[in-house]
Amino acid sequence: MTATQPARPLSPDISVKPLRTLPSRRKPFFVELWQTAVGKKWIMAITGVMLMGFVFAHAVGNLKMYLGPADFDHYSEFLREILVPILPRTIFLWLLRIGLIAAFVFHIWAAASLTAMNRKANAPYVSRRDYVAANFAARTMRWTGIIILLFLIWHLADLTWGLKPIAPSDWTRGEAFNNVTESLERVGVAIFYVIANIALGIHLFHGSWSLFQSLGLNNPRFNKARRYFATGFAVLVAAMNISFPIMIQAGVVAG
Ligand code: HEM
Repeated sequence: MTATQPARPLSPDISVKPLRTLPSRRKPFFVELWQTAVGKKWIMAITGVMLMGFVFAHAVGNLKMYLGPADFDHYSEFLREILVPILPRTIFLWLLRIGLIAAFVFHIWAAASLTAMNRKANAPYVSRRDYVAANFAARTMRWTGIIILLFLIWHLADLTWGLKPIAPSDWTRGEAFNNVTESLERVGVAIFYVIANIALGIHLFHGSWSLFQSLGLNNPRFNKARRYFATGFAVLVAAMNISFPIMIQAGVVAG
């Protein structure tokens, strides 16, 4: 083709047809994250931190028991009155409860899902897992978790819902101090509370240690601090909680 020749028009048969756009196969970010082991670990860690905050605040709040019935019942009433009159009575408590229930459900869901993933990944290997690297707390997370769940169902029926025959015979709504002391004066219930809170301590120890790993914060330089934090947190919460049934049984706290 010389410079004087006009440019040939594109023949119609080679005209570029627009590509048909395929529907996107990508799922929403959180769904994709949820489907990975890393995503599930993040969910475990974040909900775990929320639950740790709750158990710590609950144990500290329960220390009011040592100040007597008036202080303890006043504290129980205060929880229902948070942000009144900006919000009607108990609304803020309900928002906290909803957050807590959501954290609890996602925590258990992620744990079950990770366990299923691990089982599938380990299925081809015939030999049993080598437990040398995993300590007692790590290996028993599922069992301590189940004990805590069973304890929680009992505990709510006992003190929050007043469900007979789990709750003490004269359980009365609004009389938190009387309800808890009457309940823990029963020897069997006190023993159950002690066992459940030892399980909680073991679970908290491993959970508060491994949450840093799950969030990718596992520099060996911080391992000592992580161990102090995990031990301190677990022992503190378990000691506060175990003190209540023991002191009630000893008659130091009496209704
Ligand atoms: C010895 C240890 C414990 C004692 C003495 C205790 C005491 C109480 C009491 C008195 C209430 C009722 C409060 C009220 O009516 O205002 C309560 C509620 C509750 N406790 Fe505990 N608790 C203990 C351990 C735990 C643990 C370890 C957990 C969690 C694993 C837990 C979770 C709850 C929950 C979710 C509620 C209901 C809160 C609400 O919806 O208002 N407690 N506890």
